[in-house]
Amino acid sequence: MAIPEEIINEIKYRNDIEQVISPYVNLKRRGKNLVGLCPFHGEKTPSFTIYPESGSFYCFGCGVGGDIFTFTKLIENLDYIEAVRLLAERSGIAIPESGYDDSYAKTKDTIYEINRETARFFHEHLMSPEGKWALDYLRGRGLTMSTIRHFGLGAAPDSWDALINHLKDKGFSISDMVRANVVGKSQRGSYYDRFRKRVMFPIINLRGKVIAFSGRAMPGEDKQGGKYVNTADTPVYKKSENLFGMNFAKNHCDERIILVEGNMDVISLHQAGFENAVAALGTSFTPEQANIISRYTNEIVLTLDADAAGQKAVRRAGEILKNTGLKVRVIVIPDAKDPDEYIKKFGKERFSALLEGAVSEIEYKLLTAVKDIDITGDDGKIRYLHKAAEIIAETGDKLTADYYIGKLSEKYGVSKTALQTRVRELTRRNANAEKKKIISDIIKPKYSANELNPEKRKFYTAAVAEEAIITILLQNPDFYEYLSQNLKSEQFITAFNRRIFDAVLQVIERGTVPDISCFGELLTDEELGFLTSLYNSEKYRKNSLTVLKDSITVLENEADKIELSKTASLSDEEWAESMKKMIDKKRGMNNG
Ligand code: CTP
Ligand code: MN
Repeated sequence: MAIPEEIINEIKYRNDIEQVISPYVNLKRRGKNLVGLCPFHGEKTPSFTIYPESGSFYCFGCGVGGDIFTFTKLIENLDYIEAVRLLAERSGIAIPESGYDDSYAKTKDTIYEINRETARFFHEHLMSPEGKWALDYLRGRGLTMSTIRHFGLGAAPDSWDALINHLKDKGFSISDMVRANVVGKSQRGSYYDRFRKRVMFPIINLRGKVIAFSGRAMPGEDKQGGKYVNTADTPVYKKSENLFGMNFAKNHCDERIILVEGNMDVISLHQAGFENAVAALGTSFTPEQANIISRYTNEIVLTLDADAAGQKAVRRAGEILKNTGLKVRVIVIPDAKDPDEYIKKFGKERFSALLEGAVSEIEYKLLTAVKDIDITGDDGKIRYLHKAAEIIAETGDKLTADYYIGKLSEKYGVSKTALQTRVRELTRRNANAEKKKIISDIIKPKYSANELNPEKRKFYTAAVAEEAIITILLQNPDFYEYLSQNLKSEQFITAFNRRIFDAVLQVIERGTVPDISCFGELLTDEELGFLTSLYNSEKYRKNSLTVLKDSITVLENEADKIELSKTASLSDEEWAESMKKMIDKKRGMNNG
């Protein structure tokens, strides 16, 4: 193992799993375990389970699982070594510098440093006489000096190599600058500053580190490179997993988070006192972003343009947010193109009022459905009511449904029972559809069982026997001797289970009693999740030796069956040859 085992154990001893996970997940006790809503996929009933006894967790909904290191790694977006370091730091344990390969972590550190230095460079340029054009622009848009400093805004000079030269002076290599994506490489092989003559917005992660930049062109100067130039994905940045302003908003969102479209909207809202505003960094809202938000708050307000694109965006975001358990409301910004403009025109008090009156998502849908249907005639009214019933049926909440049924029946003069019946029909239909498709397509489970072990479908019986063998060995490492005499990993039929079995053997052969933490570096996240589920399984706790023996027999029989099915297409000689081999093999095994 790359990091000494004693250190891993010491870190585990000082960070119990409940304590590590509870800041992120609301936990309830269930027997000797704890359960909560999984932070890695959207769900409404808890299938995320913590096993304090084995120091592990597993989600039955999406298949993630592992120990404190896995959890930290996944939730904080770190690699394994970084997660170990973070937990070590938190508990005041020193990790020796040598003894493990941390070149990837070092690359990331270097990128963070380059980003910090770059942000400083841009900020200083903005404050210098040469950056007057940018400061004038920002001040002209109503930003105070304190807001400009708070967000660390900057200006990229009108130059192809000013940043390159500055970073060179600071001792960074050109290849690291390219890796950080602040410098580009042309087809002819020359290097250039990616951000030139732009107002710069640093993007800061939840731990306060600069991870990327967004550069806005001056009005009228966006011919080259477009209105915004952004950092592409790098080892420290994934656009779809970050939100602009979240580093501040996370401390001001007890009540709710406001999602806006532009960086400028975020900044101007924060300046007006709405420090709970975030933006999706120019992507359409992603499930990962929804998950981050749902970790910090219970309600999200979508502010969107009243135009068709805005409505489409609301619908999409609504779909994604459906499974997060967040309460969703929508405000349509009247008489202004975005929140930034609205605040400037009408003031923050009016924005506040707008926010208080933000309609619920269902009300918003009912409102916009009216726009699409001509309801002057009876036909149109009926069509609208059908549509409305569909919208109401989508809410899982009876009280909410009843409330809107009441409102509509009054407004359109239909009986409450007629509407109720229709809504109930539709609700039942939706529930059936949902049952078939428990987890929505939009927030996909991280690891679906069939994708994990694609051969399981074809060799089901064998795969189940293999899983039993792995489980029993994990829970009873003293069966190792018996197993090594009676089974070889080559006899595993599915490659996925064989890999896991090999890893378990490897750990036991090292002389360690296996627990989840032994596998952090041997297995992929998917494999580790699966192994955790086996490790905590109660299925084979009893009669384990008998089950083990039976499983080995099942595996042998299944192998014979596969062998036989292959022989169907053989010539007579080939068939005789293969039967002979099979018989020899059986004999060999019975004698040995
Ligand atoms: N965006 C982008 N690339 C573009 C245009 C937009 O990445 N060519 C992203 C940016 O993150 C931007 C967001 O989409 O913040 C919203 O775009 P827009 O409303 O045009 O920008 P604002 O930030 O509101 O800027 P401004 O108010 O100065 O027009
Ligand atoms: Mn704008």
